[in-house]
Amino acid sequence: MNMILSPSILNADFGNMAALINEADNAGAQWLHLDVMDGVFVPNISFGIPVIQSLRGHTNIFFDTHLMITEPERYIENFIKAGADGITFHVEATEKPLECIKLIRKHGKSAAIAINPDTPVSRIKNLLDKVDMVLCMTVFPGYGGQKYIEAVNDKIKEIRELMGSEFNIQVDGGVKEDNLRAILEAGANVIVAGTAVFNDDITGSVKRLFKCAQ
Ligand code: DX5
Ligand code: ZN
Repeated sequence: MNMILSPSILNADFGNMAALINEADNAGAQWLHLDVMDGVFVPNISFGIPVIQSLRGHTNIFFDTHLMITEPERYIENFIKAGADGITFHVEATEKPLECIKLIRKHGKSAAIAINPDTPVSRIKNLLDKVDMVLCMTVFPGYGGQKYIEAVNDKIKEIRELMGSEFNIQVDGGVKEDNLRAILEAGANVIVAGTAVFNDDITGSVKRLFKCAQ
């Protein structure tokens, strides 16, 4: 399966965001990863609905919206109205995962469920056939620039075996040029990369990541 690259803007220069996003888009990134943090589910606060809405006015790229917020069912529809194309919520953050999926589907958007590095696949087994993608966190969410947790590769393999070759499996956290191949070989196909893309050579970084994937 071809790799989908979803650069995360979390560590990019927020004062210049529209231009940086368009550079990543023109270099070949297919999605844009938007890390929403509430300071409760994760120990950090990033950005939310108004920022996504204003970025929507500057790009047509697929908005891959990663909600690291408690009780995401409260805000899913607002994120969709702001321009999200895909919504990913954490199973650890809600007691109503089916309601979350329903809200996303109601608007015809792509639904994904995320699991932290220490959450087993068994926790989401009954939800797998109801979503378009699973996000396996390869760092504990909260910050960019952390080290990839290798042990998560076993969960990626497990999900790939359960779901077959067409299902989207995303990894997020610590992806670099030198570990990308092994991650793809484990079975992931949607790759989030923050600091590995939004550095001082966005175009070169995107192109090198696609080269590593070949
Ligand atoms: C972590 C975020 C990630 C992060 C990725 O909580 O979900 O998307 O920004 O950044 P890197 O690629 O630098 O680990
Ligand atoms: Zn993320």
